[in-house]
Amino acid sequence: MDELLKWRDEFPILEHTTYLISNSLGAMPRAVYERVHDYAEAWATRGVRAWEEGWWEMAVSVGDKVGGIIGAGAGDISLHQNVTLTQAVISSCFDFTGPRNKVVLVDLEFPSIVYFYMEQRRRGARVELLKSEDGIHLPLEKFLAAIDETTLLVPISLVLFRSATIVDAKAIIERAHKVGAHVILDCFQAAGTVPVNVRELETDFAVGGVLKWLCGGPGVAYLYARPDLRKKLTPTLTGWLAHQRPFNFEIGPQEAREDSYRFLNGTPHIPALYACQPGLEIIGTIGVEKIRRKSMQQTVRLVEGALKRGWRVNTPSDAAERAGTVSVECPHAQEVKNELIAREIIVDYRPGAGIRLSPHFYNRDEEIDFALAQIEEILETRAWERHLQPA
Ligand SMILES: Cc1ncc(COP(=O)(O)O)c(C=O)c1O
Repeated sequence: MDELLKWRDEFPILEHTTYLISNSLGAMPRAVYERVHDYAEAWATRGVRAWEEGWWEMAVSVGDKVGGIIGAGAGDISLHQNVTLTQAVISSCFDFTGPRNKVVLVDLEFPSIVYFYMEQRRRGARVELLKSEDGIHLPLEKFLAAIDETTLLVPISLVLFRSATIVDAKAIIERAHKVGAHVILDCFQAAGTVPVNVRELETDFAVGGVLKWLCGGPGVAYLYARPDLRKKLTPTLTGWLAHQRPFNFEIGPQEAREDSYRFLNGTPHIPALYACQPGLEIIGTIGVEKIRRKSMQQTVRLVEGALKRGWRVNTPSDAAERAGTVSVECPHAQEVKNELIAREIIVDYRPGAGIRLSPHFYNRDEEIDFALAQIEEILETRAWERHLQPA
């Protein structure tokens, strides 16, 4: 008996779909209806008093819920609107005009991050973008060799979004620290499905969002900075929330706080902070170790089912090296994906990856078998053809 299935009732969308897309948007917990109502109620009845009755502190209390899942200490996390912004806040602490100005990236990084650092070339950054040889793995030896005495930042995903490969973060962090570079570990595709401990990893920064495996919805991203490093860094992307006395409305230079608020800027995203809590609470209650055990079994089932049918799998074949997603490249993958969605089997498609199937703790094994059987049937009956785009 799979004890994690008892959580299914908490996720309304599971009643009418085969939901296999938690790598993109985790299912909404039922309790979000209530929390969003609580937000409206506070605004409607307490008005501006809501700030001092909870809203102001909310970023810390919610940050601690994320911190508990990724191994950060209490008060170590600041919350932002998205991961691209967290990269902007972090990089704004650094000067790219000196000899240490290199940013090392891999071409399997999430595109938004690559776009962001490419634009930092206008601030003096040199970007070394390493190419993956197989489109699945990080070329680790080349990546480590690229991190040298001129390297300032190494933004790297713990789990690569395109292939779900788990990266050897420890080796990268060790190398970076040996030469004085800083690692920004993007845990977006890891947190909630693969155990992460940012303090054990000794990463300088960790970032990520809550809308995928943490079932927290859009609008909340976390930024962890190593506490000893935090005080030494001052973002230029700053604002009144980072000031020591925000309500004095003093005009003049920034006097930044020393805690995680140091990385904040303007008014926080309160509605999203309400909505993200049920997901964080559920994942925190279950514990990621248990989720990982189930995920490994289900991704093995997916890989075996795909290979048996003669489809290519664009994710690592070793379960220990693979996070929660299996990318299946069957014929006509994009059209097949559209037909799957028409049949309420919710997956996505990425060029170079194929159909991505991402079971989470709330999925049944039968849903995996059903999705694979449906792909087979769509190919056999040529049902995918109705999704062909006119040439
Ligand atoms: C690894 C990774 N980083 C970042 C993002 C997204 O960044 P942002 O929050 O800026 O949209 C994604 C996917 O949405 C991702 O998979």
